Amino acid sequence: MPTRDFNERSITDAVVERFAATPNPRLKRILTSLVRHAHDFVRDVELTQDEWLYAIQFLTRTGHLCDDKRQEFILLSDTLGVSMLVDAINHRQPAGATETTVLGPFYVQNPPVKAMGADITAGLRGTPLHVTGTVKSADGHVLGGATVDVWQSDDDGFYDVQKESDDPSLRARFIVDNDGRFDFWTIAPKFYPIPYDGPVGDMLKATARHPYRPAHIHFMIAQPGYDTLVTHLFDDNDPYLDSDAVFGVKQSLIVHLEDGKGPAPGRPDFASWKRIDHTFGLKPREKKS
Ligand code: BEZ
Ligand code: FE
Repeated sequence: MPTRDFNERSITDAVVERFAATPNPRLKRILTSLVRHAHDFVRDVELTQDEWLYAIQFLTRTGHLCDDKRQEFILLSDTLGVSMLVDAINHRQPAGATETTVLGPFYVQNPPVKAMGADITAGLRGTPLHVTGTVKSADGHVLGGATVDVWQSDDDGFYDVQKESDDPSLRARFIVDNDGRFDFWTIAPKFYPIPYDGPVGDMLKATARHPYRPAHIHFMIAQPGYDTLVTHLFDDNDPYLDSDAVFGVKQSLIVHLEDGKGPAPGRPDFASWKRIDHTFGLKPREKKS
């Protein structure tokens, strides 16, 4: 193995060799593969010095836009399809288990616990939507006591955490009953743009991509002994279902917002309303050998 005078080819093995003594075998595998792919990429596109510098500045700007409220690196991963690729590799769901999708940046730990049937809109306007659901194991057993966290954007496409006020809206936690059931009142979700005022937005603009996500409600469902399910339900009437900015749409997660018939449960004041009823399946946690 040469130790000097590396050329366009020999430099790759030299760098890989420098990791030879890495004690952690997983770290060694990851770094080796990363270096080989990165070098192949640079050779493939014959990166210029200006392009390399632009990339460094782009990543620097991305880092500067990361704090506890904004995570531009995750947005970059999302828009490059890396988040959904990691999700796919790590959630090979068995039959009966609900498919997963991106968590996104707007989840808040420990949302307000609400009673069954609660209205989570905090008075925000929109089309009234009654969501009912059942939580089961992948093999069909009802999972009483599971926690169901839900969050969504408002009718203008904003999450509560993007607004000035600290008051939570359109987010809640429900504890399902002994039949695995939960229900709540919300408003129909709308499509919205992911944050596009930073480097990720520049990338979308430069590549003629739009920043929109199709209308969805987020769900995070947890029960001891099962993998926590992170998923959405998408509105089947949305124009962006086939061009989600973060590649998160799965056919099995698309639902129809049916017209409510008769008096709205617990809300006789609603003249018209929509409804969704959905069954979620949780994957049993694999025992570590
Ligand atoms: C979201 O659905 O909340 C989301 C997901 C990925 C990037 C931005 C937003
Ligand atoms: Fe979202």
